[in-house]
Amino acid sequence: MTEPLKRNDLLLRAARGEPTERTPVWMMRQAGRYLPEYRAVRANLDFLSLCKTPDLAVEVSLQPYRIIGVDAVIMFSDILIPVEAMGQEVRLTEQKGPELPDPIRTRLQVDRLRVPDPLESVPFVMEIIRTLKRELNGEVPLIGFAGAPWTLAAYMIEGGGSKSYSQIKGMMYREPGAVHALLDKIADTIILYLNAQIEAGVDVVQLFDSWAGELSPKDYEQFALPYEQKVLASINRRKAPAILFINGVGTLLEKMAMSGANVLSIDWRVPLAQARQRTGNRVTLQGNLDPCVLLSTPDLIASSVARLIEEGGGYRHILNLGHGILPSTPVENARAFVEAAKSFAREPRL
Ligand code: CP3
Repeated sequence: MTEPLKRNDLLLRAARGEPTERTPVWMMRQAGRYLPEYRAVRANLDFLSLCKTPDLAVEVSLQPYRIIGVDAVIMFSDILIPVEAMGQEVRLTEQKGPELPDPIRTRLQVDRLRVPDPLESVPFVMEIIRTLKRELNGEVPLIGFAGAPWTLAAYMIEGGGSKSYSQIKGMMYREPGAVHALLDKIADTIILYLNAQIEAGVDVVQLFDSWAGELSPKDYEQFALPYEQKVLASINRRKAPAILFINGVGTLLEKMAMSGANVLSIDWRVPLAQARQRTGNRVTLQGNLDPCVLLSTPDLIASSVARLIEEGGGYRHILNLGHGILPSTPVENARAFVEAAKSFAREPRL
C-alpha cells in the first residue's frame, strides 16, 4: 500500500512536465464575488483596501481552498497593485471596474514613472505571501502573479478597461518609441516584483497577458512577446515555474510557446487537443473550460470536465477555466467542477 500524500504538489509537478496521479485543478479568480464568504469580507471595506490588509487578503485567498477544495491557492491581490506603486493613480469602482484617472499619453509621463522597490512600495504583498505559506504549511502550492507589460500598459494608457484598445494601439502606431519605453519600464518593475514574490515564498507564478489576444500576430511579436520573454528570462525559475495566460490565443499560440513559459494557459476558443498539437510536447497546458459552462448544471459540468481531461491526454495538463470565474456562478457548480476533476485518478505516466 502506498502512503497517502500529505503534500499535494500535483500542480507543481504538472507545471514542470512531471507525471501526476490525476490532473490538478484550480480556477482563475477563484477568490471572488461568487463566494458569499468573500462578499461578507468585502461588505466592510473596498477592494483596494482588502488587497492592502494582509489578514483579510489571506482569509479570502484561503476561502476557495477550504470551501471548494482546489489544488492550489493564489495570493489575493490585483494586477494593478504595482501600477499604483509606479506612481499612477488607480481606482476600482463597483460598476466600471478599474479606473486610472490620469492615463499615460506622452513620453514625458512615461519618464516620470518609477521602477519601485517592491519591498518598500508593496510590503503588504510580501506579508500576504509569508502568512499564506505559514498557514498552508506545504499542503498545496501557492501561486504568485503579475500582469504582463502589454496588458498593464493597456490599462495605463486606456485609463481603464477597453473594447477597442484604440488609445494604446493608436499610440503604438504613432509613437512606438514611447510605448516601448513604457513596456520596458513595466517589465523592469514586474521582474523585481515577481522575484520578490518568489523570495517571499510563492511556488509558481502566473503572468497575466489577458489582453494580448487583441493584437495581430505581427504586433504581438513586437509589443507583447519580447516583454513576456524578458520577464520570464529574468525571474528565478529554478525556484518557481511560470504560467503564461492570454485570453484569445487563437493565432498566437505557436508564438506564445516561444515565451519561455513552462505552462501556457489558454482560453476556450481553441480545443485543447489542437493546442497540444500546435505546441508539440514542449509545454504543459492549462485550461480551458468556458467559464459560462459553470452557469449550467453539475451534470453538464462533469461531462465537460471528462471531455477536457480526455483531450488533455492525462499528462502535462492543469485543469482550469479559459478566463476568470464569473461572479454569477453558483458555488455548487464551482464545487462540481473541482470534484469532477478530482474523480479522474489514473496511473502516473508522462
Ligand atoms: O485569482 C484570484 O482569486 C486572485 C485574485 C485576482 C484578482 N484579480 C482579484 C480581483 C487576480 C489574479 C486578478 C488579476 C486581474 N485583475 C486580471 C487578470 C486576470 C483576468 O481576468 O484577465 C485583470 C485583467 C485584473 C484587473 C481587474 N481587477 C478588473 C478588470 C477588475 C474588475 C472586474 C471585476 O471582476 O469586477 C478587477 C477587480 C477585481 N480583482 C475583483 C477581484 C476579486 C473584484 C473586485 C470586487 O471585489 O469588487
